[in-house]
Amino acid sequence: MTEDEQKQAAAEKAVTYIREGMVVGLGTGSCAAKMVDLVGAKVKAGLSITGIPTSEATAAQARDLGIPIVGLEAVDKIDLTIDGTDEVDPQGRLIKGGGGAHLREKIVASLSDRMIVVAEAKKKVPVLGAFKLPVEVIRFAAPALKSRLAALGSTPVLRQKPDGTPFVSDEGNYIFDCDFGKIEDPERLALSLSTLPGVVEHGLFIGFADLIIIGTDNGVEIIEV
Ligand code: A5P
Repeated sequence: MTEDEQKQAAAEKAVTYIREGMVVGLGTGSCAAKMVDLVGAKVKAGLSITGIPTSEATAAQARDLGIPIVGLEAVDKIDLTIDGTDEVDPQGRLIKGGGGAHLREKIVASLSDRMIVVAEAKKKVPVLGAFKLPVEVIRFAAPALKSRLAALGSTPVLRQKPDGTPFVSDEGNYIFDCDFGKIEDPERLALSLSTLPGVVEHGLFIGFADLIIIGTDNGVEIIEV
């Protein structure tokens, strides 16, 4: 299977967990976009759900597909969130934020009864860290945080758009992509990053994923966390 087919297979399996009337967190990225397309088809076929998008891009996609979406003010809780990932380790810990949406993604995941992660096979890694860890920061703090992130052992690079200007997240912040090498102790790193003033959110998702669905050459692999 191609990577695209693996993503499609994972997304197809994930949407089978959606039930009538659910509030569903809609993730961001290429794999999540396939899931959102499938949700759109289900809604067209009569399924009634309420979507909570994790980015402006996903919100636009959902609107185009006719999926009803609301903000957090309109719901008490989220039943299920389905989202992609940049890496997942054997403990179900994730690196997310390649698309720059990890702040809203983490908020939505944190409010969800259940999080299903969908991905293609290459996202499964023995140790997190080959993918540079996205760290979203307040713009004012960016110059100072570059050296503080380096002092934690990384090589932080300010994310840029193709035109060379800084990438700005949906919440108006900058993102540093930080090469920490192999992240042997993600919990410890997560704590260090969270306590740096000016860091809004980092891409380590620890204790969020409940089910991982990986598309592989031999069908989907389902891992309960
Ligand atoms: C968005 O910021 C990310 O967290 C995505 O969920 C992650 O980058 C996975 O995206 P792909 O499915 O496109 O690889």
